[in-house]
Parts: sequence; C-alpha cells; structure tokens
Amino acid sequence: MKREDITYMGAGPAPLPTDVLAKAAEALQNYEQTGLGIAEHSHRSEIANNVLNTMKADLVNFLDIPSNYEILLMQSGGSGQFDATVYNIVSVWVEKQRQKIVNERGDISEEDLVQELRKKVESELRLDYLVTGSWSSKASQEAVRLLGPEYVNVASDARKVNDGKFGKIAEESTWQLSPRPAMVYMCENETVDGVEYPKFPKRLEPTGSEEDPFVVGDFSSTILSRRIPVQNYSIIFFGAQKNLGCAGVTGVIIRKDLLIACPPAILRKLGLPVTPTVLDYTITAKNNSLYNTLPIFDVFLAGQVLKKLLATFPDKVDGQQAEAQKKADMLYGALDASPDVYKVVPEKSVRSRMNICFRVTKGGNVDDAEKAFLKGATERGITGLKGHRSVGGIRASNYNAVPVSGVEKLAAYLQEYAQA
Ligand SMILES: Cc1ncc(COP(=O)(O)O)c(C=O)c1O
Repeated sequence: MKREDITYMGAGPAPLPTDVLAKAAEALQNYEQTGLGIAEHSHRSEIANNVLNTMKADLVNFLDIPSNYEILLMQSGGSGQFDATVYNIVSVWVEKQRQKIVNERGDISEEDLVQELRKKVESELRLDYLVTGSWSSKASQEAVRLLGPEYVNVASDARKVNDGKFGKIAEESTWQLSPRPAMVYMCENETVDGVEYPKFPKRLEPTGSEEDPFVVGDFSSTILSRRIPVQNYSIIFFGAQKNLGCAGVTGVIIRKDLLIACPPAILRKLGLPVTPTVLDYTITAKNNSLYNTLPIFDVFLAGQVLKKLLATFPDKVDGQQAEAQKKADMLYGALDASPDVYKVVPEKSVRSRMNICFRVTKGGNVDDAEKAFLKGATERGITGLKGHRSVGGIRASNYNAVPVSGVEKLAAYLQEYAQA
C-alpha cells in the first residue's frame, strides 16, 4: 500500500503532509548537516532553541496572537491540560485575592490572611464548565476529582436540551453561570460528538472589568483551522496531534497577566492543590518551556507544518479557514442530499467543520448499513471513518492535512453509496 492510495480521516492522530514527513525523516537522521539527528541534539542547545523559538514565532504569525500573550509548549496532552487549567487558575485566583487583601490591609498576619482567604475561597471560588460534548464533560469531571464538587459548576449540559445526547449547544440565556465564576471553560470543538461553537459566546465577551472570569478554551481539534478571537480568552490549549503535528507536545496560549502563582504554603493551608511543577504555567514560561526535556523533534515537526501553512496561505489562518469550510460544506452537502440514507448527528447550527459525525440509516438496519459503508470506504482507500467507540456511527475528520482531493473522494463515495 502506498501513502498516496490512502485518504486517512481519523480523528487524531491525524495525517501529516507527506513533504513535511520527508523533511522530518531527514532531520531525524542528520539535522542540517550537523551529523546528529534533531531528536538527539540537547534541548538546551542553540539548535533546539532556534527550533523552539521559530515555531513559536510562526504560530504567533499564523494566528495573529497579540503580544500580551505567551506561548508555552508542554508534554501534558490535552488531558493533562484538564488538570493544568484547574491547578493554575485556582492558584492565580487565590493569588489575586491574596494581593488584594495585602494591599488593603497592609501588615496583616499570615494567620488572619489565611482566614480571610478561606472565607473568600469557600464563598466565591467556582469553576464553571460548559459541557457540550464528551471532552468538556471529561474536563469537568477532572475538576471535580481535583477540587471536589463544591468548587465546580456545570453551567450547562447540552444533553439536557437534546434528549440525553450531545448534539446541540444550549441557548446562552439558559446557562447557569456562577455569580462570579473564577473560570468559564469551553471546548471549542467536540471531537467525539461533532459539535463546534459557531462563534464566540456573547455572554463570555470580555467587559474589561476586574471581575471578568478567566475564559479557557480547549482547541485540540480545531487549532489552525479558523481565526480565534484570542483576546476573548485567558488560556487556549491544544494537543498537537490533529492540525499541528504529532502527539507529544501540547501548546498553551496564555495571557501574560495570568503568569502569577500563589505561594504553595498558602494553598496547602487552604486545602487547595499545589500545581505540579511540570504543569505550572509560570514556571514553564520562566524557562521558555525548557524546565525539563522538551521533545524537540515534536516541536520541529509542528514548526514545519506551520512553515508549510504560512507558505500555502498568504492570508494565513483565514486562508486555511476558507479551505476547511469548503471541504466541510462538500461533505455536509453530500450527506444532506440523501436524507433517507444519512443522518448528521449534531444540529445544523453547531456542526463541526473538523469532525463530521453521521449515521447511515439506509435500509433501516443502522449497524449493517454502517458496516457496509465502512467496508466500501476501505475498498476505496478512505480509512479512519469509524466513529468514537462511546457513540458509534461514522466520523469523517476533516483536518488541515486532509487534501481537497481526499474530501472529493469521500463526497463521491457518499453519493455512490446513497444511489447504489
Ligand atoms: C477536544 C479534545 N480535548 C482533549 C483531548 C485529549 O487529548 P490527549 O489525548 O492529548 O490527552 C482530545 C483528544 O482527542 C480532544 O479531541
């Protein structure tokens, strides 16, 4: 089997451009004629630093990230960021309260300070989650695990407005946000359920007030595919393994004023968790993401993907966004053309451009129809279409490296299967 015979539409890891992989293979053996591969060079070498800093600069350029944001590269995976966001936000929030009390009260004793903070924490510290699919649900469960349910508020659970299943985003007016949430967490694109926010929620737009919550966005399956209103977020995170590179490195875009932390001794006295060093944003930033050994090969690969994107799309992410939309429209168009054969899972207004989830209902026996559909797809070289094991069905992942020609192939097969 040759690479060019396969259109891979798996949900992640995702395909990578072949020319990028060829460059990476060369760099693995002998990076720029140094006689050593990129994975062998020290992460503290000038070479590694150049790879890292160039990748960061290209990310900033491609996404137009404002200068009041810092880029961090970590090894946590998206799941590790479920933890990192909780630990760091709690620490930042308590530190802000601590500074406020110290500023107002001057030489307050540590005992009184901790007592005041404890009152604040108990009455006000709340992390709000907007649950729109499996990943935001997991993130909220992780927060409960780390902090306890008393600190976590699921402000909206989309299943409640969709017969117990994901596939909608509840009206913003129905969200039960805490009176003054420390954080509001959202997953921009739900990879398992094919649900994507059509635009940034109105209710979360910053007002410029001190009381605005920290808005956290999981962009694991949508990064580099659409323009992000970065200024609306405090933290944006994403694993690399879908649109950016390979598994092993995770990006964080964080507003610089969040790079503060509460002294661990105070957090311990308050019974709150202390951020593990390798998940600590402040320490990571201070060390330019090199606190410990960063997988520089992964960063190199992501850097090459960014270089290719910048060379392909003169208008940067807007160009990629237009292409992603065109590919998604082609697939949804083919599905909608045969309503007796296919049923798109999510509601039209929240359909993901990256993960197109549908059922095959032809003939009435969905199981048999989907097996036959997948078999036919494999015979045509279209693979990775099986839906997530938790929900079943079919999922076509339309990540950046899936070429227009691959999507055309699937659209043609959708039509062929429907008419057969
Ligand atoms: C939206 C989203 N968030 C988080 C994750 C978890 O990422 P990881 O497997 O890197 O922990 C995934 C994985 O597919 C995802 O799609």
